[in-house]
Amino acid sequence: MPFVKATALSCANIAFIKYWGRKDHLLRLPLNSSISMNLDNATTVTTVAFDEALPADEIEIGGEPASPHAARRVSEHLDRIRALAGITARARVASRNSFPMGAGIASSASAFAALTVAACASAGLQLDERALTILARQGSGSACRSIPAGFVEWHTGDTSDESFAESIAPPDHWDLRDLIAIVQTEHKEVGSSKGHEIAGPSPFAAARLAEAERALPVVRVAILARDFTTFGEEAEQEAIRMHAVAMTSRPSVLYWSPETVRIMHAVRQWRAEGLEAYFSIDAGANVHVLCQGKDAPYVEAALHALLDVREVLANRPGPGTQLVEHHLF
Ligand code: PMV
Repeated sequence: MPFVKATALSCANIAFIKYWGRKDHLLRLPLNSSISMNLDNATTVTTVAFDEALPADEIEIGGEPASPHAARRVSEHLDRIRALAGITARARVASRNSFPMGAGIASSASAFAALTVAACASAGLQLDERALTILARQGSGSACRSIPAGFVEWHTGDTSDESFAESIAPPDHWDLRDLIAIVQTEHKEVGSSKGHEIAGPSPFAAARLAEAERALPVVRVAILARDFTTFGEEAEQEAIRMHAVAMTSRPSVLYWSPETVRIMHAVRQWRAEGLEAYFSIDAGANVHVLCQGKDAPYVEAALHALLDVREVLANRPGPGTQLVEHHLF
């Protein structure tokens, strides 16, 4: 059977209840369920073409050959798709991000979601959305949340089939904004894969897990009701809890830089002055500032006025991963 060339566009996502720590490392089953929003301005485009004539997978990221570590992860994911499709052909893969890689914007989420959808299409494998999320999850956990549209919940599950993601509200449900204050574009020191592995022994891990389980339905209801105050307070607390676990893991992981902490203080200061915004932080130093659409121009101006902020990446709720016509090769 001849293979087609296929290209997918995927958004990164920001989690309000986070995935940090796993109960099964091989299958990437998370300790707790999580909730996120796709980011319409932080995207990955990936083209895949399986080709019987290729001796090995050829993988290019951002116009350069992939590092050995990245190439291995991509090839392992292609192996999952080859096994499901019953094919052995190697593939040519090219991928491009609209944002800096490895700096606390979930590049692995959009990367593995786009890779999953493009590779399945190229292999002629037709899977429903739930099956695509289960497959994407095995490449990178948070990637499963970039497959469905808008606001998304990933159910922890006790088996691979139970650990899937689904949309809880479409992108136009709520004009929530995530303004990412970029303070660092270098590759982070400790990747999230390692972070998940060392999270368990933290003395705070069990307490954080209990709190994440309590907060998950609160955040879901707040999103559905567009209750920004409840939503923001819970999202900010959850980010702090995740970092408390990271800081108390062995070895300890400190993702915050002095710039990160200064922005955290600034956000709280603005809130005290009546500009309602909250922060979230992933596995990096950049700060995600959450606000409502009506306040976004003021929050963005305030962020630009801070000397620490190199760039602001403004996001609205984004669509799910989709096939597009514009191939990278
Ligand atoms: O999917 P991973 O292994 O890149 O882990 C993502 C971890 C966080 O971004 C910090 C939290 C989350 O739920 O997205």
